[in-house]
Amino acid sequence: MEKLIVKGGNRLVGTVKTSGAKNAVLPIIAASIMGVTPSHFDEVPMLEDVRTISEVLKSLGIKVESKEKNVLDIDSTTINSYEPPCELMRNMRASFFIMGPLLARMGKARIHMPGGCAIGARPVDIHLKGFEALGVVLKQEDGFIEATTPNGLKGATIYFDFPSVGATENVMMAAALAEGVTILENAAEEPEIVALANYLNKMGAKVRGAGTDVIRIEGVKELRGADYTIIPDRIEAGTYMIAAAMTGGDVIIDNVLPEHQKPLIAKLREAGAIVEEDIDKVRVIGTGSLKGVSVKTLPYPGFPTDMQAQIMAMMVVSEGNSRVTETVFENRFMHVAELNRMGAKITTADRSANIEGPAKLVGCDVRATDLRAGAAMILAGLVAEGETRIGDLFHIDRGYEDIVEKLRNLGADIERVDV
Ligand code: EPZ
Repeated sequence: MEKLIVKGGNRLVGTVKTSGAKNAVLPIIAASIMGVTPSHFDEVPMLEDVRTISEVLKSLGIKVESKEKNVLDIDSTTINSYEPPCELMRNMRASFFIMGPLLARMGKARIHMPGGCAIGARPVDIHLKGFEALGVVLKQEDGFIEATTPNGLKGATIYFDFPSVGATENVMMAAALAEGVTILENAAEEPEIVALANYLNKMGAKVRGAGTDVIRIEGVKELRGADYTIIPDRIEAGTYMIAAAMTGGDVIIDNVLPEHQKPLIAKLREAGAIVEEDIDKVRVIGTGSLKGVSVKTLPYPGFPTDMQAQIMAMMVVSEGNSRVTETVFENRFMHVAELNRMGAKITTADRSANIEGPAKLVGCDVRATDLRAGAAMILAGLVAEGETRIGDLFHIDRGYEDIVEKLRNLGADIERVDV
């Protein structure tokens, strides 16, 4: 079994380049199903999740090729199925993003219900309600969802009970080829939604208002493939920003859109780190002592839930008490027990965690309980005394391209070993 071995105490110094965004590329790859000609993508992060969704598309008869690193070519002209194998769908929840494109392209889909995961039950009721509003007929049996469009997809006005990122993306994709106009209200506003809308519009779609809570989609007859460059991963970038602050380092994070980092930049400055913003990069200087800050996760433009575990790791070693409230997922404190094993002083009650800082962290055997918790354990290891050994690396491989090389280039003492 592979483990990450992190020896704490090194300041991180230098420059790191952010890879393409996992949460943008996954729905965009799904959307390429709708193109009647091929698409070409650049800045594609080479992640486990990208490999997984590529396998799902291949299982539908679609050609997916990566001729070189961070490049992907997808040709959906040969699509011959609307029911991916359930063992592939089980590997990753985000595979559910193919439902909207399949309904739009094939008029039907037969998909295994996505499972929950460490951070919550993660139902898809908001997705399904949106599809039904577009005229989709749903039948659920033996864990499968059978979706058909007996009268085609018809535009509708849809109010989302929660600004779900996935539901906004899935329904927006289906609406792109529906007859008539669809209005999505209380839509998610994340930058990844804007990225998807930009790709869809390059394909010939008519999507307006992405990035706000009301999105208007005028259905078109056909979508053609397009060339598209994936936006930088704001969560990966944020993880390195926190690493710089925690280690008292001086790091330039390149290939960043600072406007996507506002909540984190505000919290880092509040904690006492120095943050310099440039057009496409951010420099973070750790001043050696950080003040505890409190955070409440919210849908964009609030503080991102995907940064919650990472900033909690920073609060653990900051001066004073801090509080984290997780409002987006019902079970996203799995990293608390792992941090406490290292000496953190965190107590939780329902969706809030109280952190008493600074704690003296001592390296030990820990595990990545989910993707972002894994990143938090690496951050804790960077400042802990001694050696931290992190297991269950498959979680980390899902969302962080070349994380060991990137951290070693910044001076971290980290290696991946077979134990
Ligand atoms: C996306 O997940 C991201 N994943 C998540 O990133 C991210 O944490 C999340 O958005 C919130 O920003 C991808 O984009 C691949 P949601 P998604 O639908 O779409 C509830 C990471 O670490 N909900 O906005 O699944 C749900 O249970 C991952 O990169 C329903 O109740 O998130 C949750 O409590 C983790 N019914 C809340 O909404 C639904 O039909 C937010 O979920 C859908 C969601």
